This record gives sequence, structure tokens and C-alpha cells, in this order.
Amino acid sequence: MKTKIFTESEYDIKEAGKIIKTGGLVAFPTETVYGLGADALNDEAVKKIYVAKGRPSDNPLIVHICRKEDIIPLVKEVTPKAQALIDAFFPAPLTIILPKSDKVGNVVSGGLDTVAVRMPENETARRLIEAAGCPVAAPSANTSGLPSPTRAKYVIDDMMGKIDGIIDGGDCEFGVESTVITLATEKPVILRPGAITKEMIEAVIGEVEVSRAVLEGMKDNETAASPGMKYKHYAPRARVVIVDADKETYEKFVNSRKNAFALCYEGDDVKIPKVTFGKENDDLSQARELFDALRELDEMGAKKVYARIPHTTGVGMAVYNRLIRAAAFNIIDLKKPFTIGLTGQTGAGKGYVCDYLKSLGFNIINCDDCVKEIYENNPKLFDELKENFGQDIIVNNAVDRKRLSEIVFSDDKRLALLNSIVHPAVISLCESKAKIPSVLDAPQLFEANAQEKCYKVIAVTASYKTRLERIMSRDGISKEQARARMESQLNEEYFIKNSDFVIINDGTEDIKKQIETILEEII
Ligand code: TXA
Ligand code: MG
Repeated sequence: MKTKIFTESEYDIKEAGKIIKTGGLVAFPTETVYGLGADALNDEAVKKIYVAKGRPSDNPLIVHICRKEDIIPLVKEVTPKAQALIDAFFPAPLTIILPKSDKVGNVVSGGLDTVAVRMPENETARRLIEAAGCPVAAPSANTSGLPSPTRAKYVIDDMMGKIDGIIDGGDCEFGVESTVITLATEKPVILRPGAITKEMIEAVIGEVEVSRAVLEGMKDNETAASPGMKYKHYAPRARVVIVDADKETYEKFVNSRKNAFALCYEGDDVKIPKVTFGKENDDLSQARELFDALRELDEMGAKKVYARIPHTTGVGMAVYNRLIRAAAFNIIDLKKPFTIGLTGQTGAGKGYVCDYLKSLGFNIINCDDCVKEIYENNPKLFDELKENFGQDIIVNNAVDRKRLSEIVFSDDKRLALLNSIVHPAVISLCESKAKIPSVLDAPQLFEANAQEKCYKVIAVTASYKTRLERIMSRDGISKEQARARMESQLNEEYFIKNSDFVIINDGTEDIKKQIETILEEII
């Protein structure tokens, strides 16, 4: 099919309107993103939209109108709340869902008994609808699953040869799709956030809910209030990961990453290849540039992208909602001091994993070293230990570790007391050494309750026999001594149950592979 490129001239808009009226497809600019339009009341024409986009047929389309009163024939009733929103906002980047009238077919509504209606603010869009002389069904003019097009160029990339025409109207003003609100439920619910914010809507019709799926995504067995929620969305080819961190931590983190791109704000101090999406405290600029930035990253050949986390209030909610889908809900939480907590029983081979993580650029914070450090020249701790375990626990201005372990070895109560004194001091020393991204190498991670300070926890395990042999040869101790040491620890099941990932280190070559697979998921 030959796709005609139209201008915004009077003549071209008339031509484009004719195409829609006679059952064809035309992409056109709106103030949000480009739409792919067809006569909403012509089932055959609407079906072509689903084909051109590769869109699942149960995902309904928005019906666009050019006059406020044109909503009346499309819905069962214009409720008072609907009327209030229309009066306050239309024309606007706002879509209202109401029970549909018999005029609206099942193709456009994706089989639902409701219809989504919007009167766009963009003048070219309204002139086209007027010229077509019918309500115009229009989803975003992208291939299903890809970022919505904010420039004619991207519509051309996705739709050339698949539709009858494209009106080039320059760049879109808002850059994210309209706010979608349903008034078909008892309480109004925002199904998709946009430039008309929750706060703006509540000022007109009172309290509204925000669908949980807006910020969190859908559970596997959940039915979607809006079918669009359940499909993959806005996804560039690159794997996008959102970094939940303040500006400084984000900068440090991305600057330590190799072979990756940053999706950051203007002015961020980023030294790896980057694409910006607006300014830090200007959510309208972020909305305007986000989809453009995602497409640009693909054009640059990015495979892995670390994105800054948007705020979730105001228009920021719309930005966050799109970005989290582009990232397939992958978020690294760097608000925790340690990216990875690494733990495991004695002899499980944690050291090997540590060395490998270090070679990959992680900062290793070794708890045993930190224990040694606090056991030397630490008057405050010494006083506490002397008070609880006797004066002769301190020798030559250092803790006599051998003596201390003899005291607590077979006395659970005293061991717990020792831990309650030592663990917090150790973990806070570890924290003071943490740089992003850090691994906390901690055999007693769980005893010290330090898993809470780690974004993800990896346990290293090995068979009993392997561990036994490793400990005996490493520490030059007898089988009985090694056994006693192993028995005094938490059992393997506990480690597995309480960790996010498990590495089985039986000494074979695939350990690196196991680590890399886990890292793919973590960062
Ligand atoms: O800004 C926009 O709204 C753009 C421009 C072109 O107007 N259009 C747009 O359409 O974003 P689309 O199809 O990409 O997104 C419409 C969303 C989908 O998530 C769809 O599931 C939802 O609205 N939707 C449509 N009708 C619905 C209904 N009756 N009930 C629930 N959700 C509905
Ligand atoms: Mg869309």
C-alpha cells in the first residue's frame, strides 16, 4: 500500500478526511501522541487499525470527537460527573469511559459494554474529525508494544506502507497519551495517568481512585480494568532498568557501568553514553521527551539502559507509569546501602563468588575484616565487652577473640548477647565503607539482620561433603572440629528460604555463568 504524506493545509485535511469517511486509515497529530484514525462507526475500517498495529483485538480504542455534544450519541447517558469533566476540560488530553450506546460496535470497544471518548485539543486533529464527518477511533499510531510516536518521523517508521496516509503536524506538545478515567464504575477510577492530573480532576468531581496497575503493574491472575494494562508497552529493544536512587547515587552508579546507556535528566553528571528526558523538576518536559528518548536509544543501538526514577505525583505519575512499563517493571533499589548481600554456610565457597563479583566492578565489603577492625582499639566497645564477658577479654588493646569464642561457643544466651553488641557495630562500619554498587560479604548476614540493608540477597551453597573437605583443608582442622563448626550455623534450608538467589558452588566451571545469570536479573 502507498502511504500518502499530508500537510496541515485545508486541502490536505479535506483529502485525509475523505479517506477516513470512505473506510481508510490516516495517522494524525494530537497534543499527546500521534493517533491512527478510522471511522469509529465502521467495523471493517476499525478492524484495519488492529491489523496495521498488530494490536490484540480485545484492547479497545478511544473514539475521538470534535464537539463536546458529539459524545451524546455514543454513550448511554452523560452522567453529571462526565458533564462536569467535559465542561471543565474538553478539548483536552483526557479520555472519559462511560457505558456505550447501541451505535458503538464491538470491534471498537474490544467487546466491552463501555466506550472511551476524547475530544483532542490539537486543532489539526479536530479539523480532521470535522472533515471526516464521523467520530474517529484512534489508538496511538505505533506498532503495538513499541513507544507511542511523538513525531511524524516515528509514525513513518512504524506505519509506512501499512496505512493510507499520515498528516505531518510536527512534534506533539505533551508527549504522553491522554489521562483515561472510567465513570462506568461506582467510583471514578483513573486507568491511565496523563497531563490532566488526579489533582486537577479531583478539584472538579471530588475524590477519584488511581488503579493499582498504574504504578505497580498487574498480577498474573488479575483481570484488567483497562485491557491495555495487561499488554507489554512502550518497550524499546534495549533492556531498561529504573534506578531508584538520589541524583548523586544514580550518577555514581551509572558511571561505574560498562557497555550501558543512561536515560537521565538534563544536567546530570553522566559519563557513559546518554539520552536525556527533560529536566529534573519539570515533569511536563519529562513527559514531552520520554518516548522520543526511548526511540532514540534504539537508534543508538543501546542494549542496556539505566533510567532515573521519575516522581510519582502530578504529571510525574504519567511519566513513571510509562517508564516502568518500558522497563518491564525492573527497578534497582539503590536506596539500600548494599546492592547485594552475599552469605552462606562455612565452606560453601563464598570467597570465589566474591572474587568474581569484584572483577566485575563491585565493591566488596567484607564483614570479617570489619569485625577485626572493630576488635582493635575501640574503647567504647571494649568497655561493653569487659562488662559482659570479663576484664581479661581485652589483651594488648585488642579483643582476645579466641577467649571470647570459648566463652560463647556452647552458650546460646551469651552468644546472643555478644551478637547484639557486635553486629550493629560491624554493620555500621560496613555501611560507612559502602560505595555503589557494593556487595556485603557476610556469613552472619541473617543473624545480624543485615538482609534489610541489601537490595538482593544471594546465598552460596555446596554439598555437606564438599564443605567438610574445604573447611578441613582450609583451616587445617580435624573432621570433628569441622563438623562442630558446621553444626553451629544456620542450616542450608534457612539460607535458601531467605535469599533471593542461590548459587550452588560445587567447584565446577558453571559458577560464573550462574553469577552472570543472577546479575542479569539484579542490575
Ligand atoms: O492520547 C491518547 O489517548 C492517544 C491519542 C491518539 O488520542 N490515544 C491512545 O490510544 O493512547 P491507545 O489505544 O493507545 O490507548 C487507549 C487505552 C488502552 O489502554 C485501552 O485499553 C484503554 O485506553 N481503553 C479504551 N477503551 C476502554 C474501555 N472501554 N474500558 C477500559 N479501557 C479502555
Ligand atoms: Mg497505545
